[in-house]
Amino acid sequence: MTSNPYPLGLRLHGRRVVVVGGGAVATRRVPALLDAGADVLLVAPELTPALRARADAGRLHWVPRRFVPEDLDGAWLVQVAVDDPIAAASVSAVAAERRIFCVRADDRTAATAWTPAVTRHGPVTVAVLGGGDPRRAMTVRDAIRDLLAVRLAPDGIAGRPDASTGTTGGQQAGRVALVGAGPGDPELITVKGWRLLTEADVVVADRLVPGLLLDELRPDVELVDASKIPYGPSRAQEEINQILVDRALAGAFVVRLKGGDPYVFGRGGEELLACAAAGVPVTVVPGVTSSIAAPAAAGIPVTHRGVAHEFTVVSGHLAPDAPASLVRWDALAGLHGTLVILMGLKNLAAITATLIAHGRSPQTPAAVVQEATTGTQRVLRSTLGAVAADLSAADLRPPAVVVVGDVVGALDG
Ligand SMILES: C[S@@+](CC[C@H](N)C(=O)[O-])C[C@H]1O[C@@H](n2cnc3c(N)ncnc32)[C@H](O)[C@@H]1O
Repeated sequence: MTSNPYPLGLRLHGRRVVVVGGGAVATRRVPALLDAGADVLLVAPELTPALRARADAGRLHWVPRRFVPEDLDGAWLVQVAVDDPIAAASVSAVAAERRIFCVRADDRTAATAWTPAVTRHGPVTVAVLGGGDPRRAMTVRDAIRDLLAVRLAPDGIAGRPDASTGTTGGQQAGRVALVGAGPGDPELITVKGWRLLTEADVVVADRLVPGLLLDELRPDVELVDASKIPYGPSRAQEEINQILVDRALAGAFVVRLKGGDPYVFGRGGEELLACAAAGVPVTVVPGVTSSIAAPAAAGIPVTHRGVAHEFTVVSGHLAPDAPASLVRWDALAGLHGTLVILMGLKNLAAITATLIAHGRSPQTPAAVVQEATTGTQRVLRSTLGAVAADLSAADLRPPAVVVVGDVVGALDG
């Protein structure tokens, strides 16, 4: 007779879970057990490299041999992740004798527990059992995950997992998340960044933030366009800091959405310090930076075996001879690796001339990638000696990244 399973959330922190088998199934199962804080004992003559790395790092105990009944001493749960049905049956027989629940990868009908398909959304864990059909469970799980990410979170189902517990003047205090939005393609925001965006009360967005991300905000979100603040750059930054602090102190969850990564020429550090000074808690969510993504989108790896063992990211917003410049262009000219220049179009002629004057060959391959990862991306391939002139002729404009180095042609067939 079949009956419905009884769902439970196992609190495994510090509790022994025995995993028998060290192959692909165990490799998939072990991370969630470790995430739950389980004390994992892995019994298998051999391990996959991923499991081996966890064992070497001391994250789990590995017993390099076949299963013996004593392995289940002190166990709360056992996961059998071996193909051999006889070996699996003998483990589950020992588990049954000891009244330990047993998950079996080889035979769900013989198992005393099933692992569900899971999606996690902040503090909410959704676990789906598909009546013994894992594919059905995954399909339903995927649909729920999409709903949670896009529709339900703004209405408060996801809640605010990291929300501050402090209060200000009797009011619930807010917080700020500095979120990297990625280089341009809206799909290049991180999963965490996207989740926080869907939970925000206020979004303060930069000019280079993918517009489609803002399109998805729910109608009651206050959207502050930071690029429209009508002052010079330093006063505008003060205004932005003030907006973040004021809204958070008024109880809002504020997402400061920034192009690329918040800490790569993004002034994220200044915003963090301003919030910290006002006692506002801040979460920083790194982003995919254009300094790596723009070359990648043009088919240029910033490192390549046998070609470049280093890459240097530098701002070209000041000319090499500007008194305020902090960049040692003469020293950079002596490097053999990849040079990635952000905000460098205006000063490109002076920059390339300085690099050549200090020894970098004018024949070094160079490329310019404009509006990378978007539908309007443009790529110019040239050399260090010619790129500034080619750039003007091609009428390329910011935002663009300049890449200098042999990696520019490394993947050309
Ligand atoms: C103020 S910086 C911010 C960089 C950003 N925090 C990051 O990690 O990508 C702006 C510069 O980043 C570069 N940039 C940003 N997005 C870009 C894109 N989609 N394509 C090319 N360059 C981009 C350009 O050099 C632009 O002038």
